Amino acid sequence: MHLIISSDFEEMSGTAWEDFLFTLEKISKPVICLPSGKTPVVFLRNMRNYFSRHYNNPDWYFIGLDEWVGIGKDVKGSCRQFFDEHLFIPLRVPEERISFFNGIAEDLEKECSKAEAFINAHKGIDITVLGIGTNGHLGLNEPGSDPSLRTQIKTLSESTITAAKDYFDEPRDVHQGITLGLKSLLESGTVFLMAGGESKADIIKAVVEGPVTTGIPGSFLQGHPNCFVYLDEKAASKLS
Ligand code: PGA
Repeated sequence: MHLIISSDFEEMSGTAWEDFLFTLEKISKPVICLPSGKTPVVFLRNMRNYFSRHYNNPDWYFIGLDEWVGIGKDVKGSCRQFFDEHLFIPLRVPEERISFFNGIAEDLEKECSKAEAFINAHKGIDITVLGIGTNGHLGLNEPGSDPSLRTQIKTLSESTITAAKDYFDEPRDVHQGITLGLKSLLESGTVFLMAGGESKADIIKAVVEGPVTTGIPGSFLQGHPNCFVYLDEKAASKLS
């Protein structure tokens, strides 16, 4: 793991964005996996600003990281709506360059196999950017997740159900998620993990300095050969 510690969240997001762009400049038609949530908001703003200044659209493909089961893309708080707002619509990304879970599909297993087929058709994910839950989850791979599994439906932990309340305008009953599996994520060519704020300090210490364990899914990133961890000073404050 390579640690990059910035003085604040803005600087962390800017550094991660510049490194992301530098990595992608070397790859033709890259496949990218990005997280929704609070962590990537400034990173994505940097991305939008960059492309509006350069008057062009990126030649990039996007694979969704996760989605809430039972929540459709019209609902504010769905991962798909987050990306429509922050990325796909502003950058005019055509639908054929996107593979995203439909949380209200009748056949959720088919949603899983569609995601894996997209990854395989494009010969793997080139770069994955992740946030981290306070319980150590990556995407919706909750504590206890098997690192040998690919895209799947997961039962959400209590802490994720509580955190999810902040994303929705009105109370929503979410108990399951659909997520790229740890194996799919760990096979990405490059992984960026971003975390900011005091609330992430304990879990960052466990992810970076603790043992590799299914109890902390983020700890599996320690074994990734090309993993870069972007932190602000608050999230890094408990590292020894
Ligand atoms: P956050 O979520 O970016 O909203 O903190 C991260 C996560 O739960 O993976």
